[in-house]
Amino acid sequence: MARVFQNLKHSLCISNLFTPSKPLLFYKNPHALKYIRLASTYKAAVLKEYGTPLQIEELKRKKLKSKEVRVAVHCCGVNASDLLMVENKYDHKIALPFVPGFEISGEVLEVGEEVQTLSPGLRVVGLNKEFLGGFSEECVLNEEDLWSIDMAVPFKYGASLIENYSTALLGLHRRAKIDSSSTILITAAAGGLGLAAVDLAASVYKAKVIGVCGTEDKADLVREKGAWAAIKYNVKHLHKKVEEVTEGKGVDVIFDAVGGEVFTNSLPCIANEGRVIVAGFASRVIPHIETSQLLPKAVALIGISLNHYRITNKEVYRKTSEDVIEMHEMGLIKPHVSAVFSLDEHQMAFDFISERKSTGKVVLEIR
Ligand SMILES: NC(=O)c1ccc[n+]([C@@H]2O[C@H](COP(=O)([O-])OP(=O)(O)OC[C@H]3O[C@@H](n4cnc5c(N)ncnc54)[C@H](OP(=O)(O)O)[C@@H]3O)[C@@H](O)[C@H]2O)c1
Repeated sequence: MARVFQNLKHSLCISNLFTPSKPLLFYKNPHALKYIRLASTYKAAVLKEYGTPLQIEELKRKKLKSKEVRVAVHCCGVNASDLLMVENKYDHKIALPFVPGFEISGEVLEVGEEVQTLSPGLRVVGLNKEFLGGFSEECVLNEEDLWSIDMAVPFKYGASLIENYSTALLGLHRRAKIDSSSTILITAAAGGLGLAAVDLAASVYKAKVIGVCGTEDKADLVREKGAWAAIKYNVKHLHKKVEEVTEGKGVDVIFDAVGGEVFTNSLPCIANEGRVIVAGFASRVIPHIETSQLLPKAVALIGISLNHYRITNKEVYRKTSEDVIEMHEMGLIKPHVSAVFSLDEHQMAFDFISERKSTGKVVLEIR
């Protein structure tokens, strides 16, 4: 049985990923919307002024454009970039007022006249980088930013899949081309993106994962997710520790979403012809390195941004997320949700993340 499961994972990695996008499946549930309030207003957490708290307000519905879909939001993932957006520290300023939150799960309420793949009642997950609006009972998204999900997928996991797992899959599979022989160092390995990368690399690709994180409790979680080794972060000893664990060889891939000192201190751990994935800057410090550092070991430095694929390569963007959903529905991967808050408790969710208490994902449960 274990062998069959292993083969299943293997064939998924080799043959299914990045084959042409399949048509969306329909999981119709005509009774699903029965309990959802169909009023002309809905509750949302609105940012009116930078530097002030979000306010819970009743907003009016707007008319849908032809390719838009209105979703009754059940859960919204809370991401590090939501914090940056409300603090006006994101890479571009967002016009006020706005409702934050872009990673949602819920049920389709209404579709625009040109929407072809979705209909009311379907359970969906969505990534709304264009309009945001997820900290809300309702959200409008483009059809191309939504994916249907199986009835069995709990909404809290649905809202925890796409942003981190699709980013990790693009980095590890499409760009770093990992396989079961790869050794991978993942920084902030118990964070949202890091733990998704650990799960994919260890559970699906059967790679040797070395996770680096801030506390022993986090290291335990990283081991539970399948890491071969988990190291409590220590700038001075990181290289030495990795040398010990890899018997002097170093790692084939570094997956970093922290930046700053963590990035610069991880770099010496790379093996010959290694690939270094730059996925984010949780420390809020963008490291600067001499490109000459890449030459002696013939190292490739690779940036990854899911939003880049959304804008420039829709086929890969959609297919990657379909693959992630499929892996979850098959039981190959499972997001770790460390805390669930209500819409009214959004500030507690922000504090939980910024105080580095969270592991994996934090979710707002809205319905
Ligand atoms: N490229 C993309 O498309 C993409 C997609 C998703 C996320 N991201 C980016 O990736 C980064 C991580 O996102 P995430 O969702 O994993 O965040 P997260 O869940 O908040 O995890 C970040 C972790 O980074 C570690 N960390 C180390 N130094 C830190 C510092 N100075 N301040 C805060 N945290 C620090 C903490 O873990 P320890 O306590 O264990 O050190 C923290 O838990 C963010 O910059 C995010 O914007 C990029």
